[in-house]
Amino acid sequence: MRFRPLRPNATSAPEAADTPAPPELMRAAVIDAVGDADALHIAEIPAPRPVVSELLVRVVAAGVNPIDAKTRAGRGVAAAIPAFPSTLGFDFSGVVVSSPYEAHPLPPGTEVYGMVPFPRTGGSYAEYVVVPSQSVARKPSSLSHVEAAGVPLAALTAWGLVVETAHAHEGQRMLIHAGSGGVGHFAVQLAAYFGAHVTVTASDRNADWLHELGAAVVLDYATTRFEEHVRDADVVIDLVGNTADDIGTRSLQVLRPGGLYIMVPTGGFPGYAEAAEAAGVRATSYKVVPDGDVLATLGRLLDSSAVQVYVDTVYDLDDASAAHTALEHGHTRGKTVLRITDG
Ligand SMILES: NC(=O)c1ccc[n+]([C@@H]2O[C@H](COP(=O)([O-])OP(=O)(O)OC[C@H]3O[C@@H](n4cnc5c(N)ncnc54)[C@H](OP(=O)(O)O)[C@@H]3O)[C@@H](O)[C@H]2O)c1
Repeated sequence: MRFRPLRPNATSAPEAADTPAPPELMRAAVIDAVGDADALHIAEIPAPRPVVSELLVRVVAAGVNPIDAKTRAGRGVAAAIPAFPSTLGFDFSGVVVSSPYEAHPLPPGTEVYGMVPFPRTGGSYAEYVVVPSQSVARKPSSLSHVEAAGVPLAALTAWGLVVETAHAHEGQRMLIHAGSGGVGHFAVQLAAYFGAHVTVTASDRNADWLHELGAAVVLDYATTRFEEHVRDADVVIDLVGNTADDIGTRSLQVLRPGGLYIMVPTGGFPGYAEAAEAAGVRATSYKVVPDGDVLATLGRLLDSSAVQVYVDTVYDLDDASAAHTALEHGHTRGKTVLRITDG
């Protein structure tokens, strides 16, 4: 077995790395208290310092997810905010500044993408993040940093739902609600990749695009009652729940006996487990796991074009509040991304 030559760690020898050591202060989009989108503002805060086993990464771009907006508004994982000002954001793509040890597989200068620990901390709406190396992978080489930043949380969730929980396979009949959003557009592609017959709910303007991604049937939720078109489904992946039009409750009717209902938005369908049992189907919730090995697998699928990321809108970090306002309208196609540093 051959080892590649050791490279000095940037923390101990910053002059040897092709990325400079971070400054004492960095720009970040923070909140001083929970509130509406205007609560997000730019501040200069201390740049983070890594501890054992962590990477320090300069963030080129950060993905925006509904959990960020929910947390900013006092829901989501707001209870886990340790102190204010607090920096939001879980997704990032950027460049390693320092890694835990000299022979680490992600040395300084490596382009990486990943997720900061969920749900405890957040913090990717900033020029630098520290992150456990297990939550990071090499950036897919075919993607820009802006594109890569749209991948981690949404695609890891889609993988967890479609592959690890639903065990997608040839001929499986799957219904995915909100197939055009961040999680949904990855879920549709992964389910189709593994051979499932995919039915999606979305608005009509997204129908052609979703067919291109692999959906067999697209139902316009504004004009169509999905339960009149779907029956004996093996799996429903519900990215909406009962917060809109009793989608969760209605979904239980379209599953075959023993089929699987997966409730994704936390609190989106209180009592789903009892309702599912009464309907004779199985049910589970799901929580995303920041897993660098899965990100590496997703990277290979992205580089081979088996899976694509669709970035809807890109905002500068200074416009993070506008990004939240747009996301909260609930009709983003694919992903919203913040551009933070040059890369
Ligand atoms: N538990 C976890 O670990 C986890 C992880 C990730 C996400 N989540 C949650 O899962 C949900 C989805 O996340 P996301 O990132 O995919 O959100 P998103 O990108 O904001 O979803 C936007 C999409 O939702 C669609 N949509 C809105 N109302 C709909 C309806 N009534 N029926 C069908 N589609 C509808 C819109 O489609 P049109 O534009 O076509 O209307 C839009 O494309 C969020 O609540 C999020 O917090 C949970």
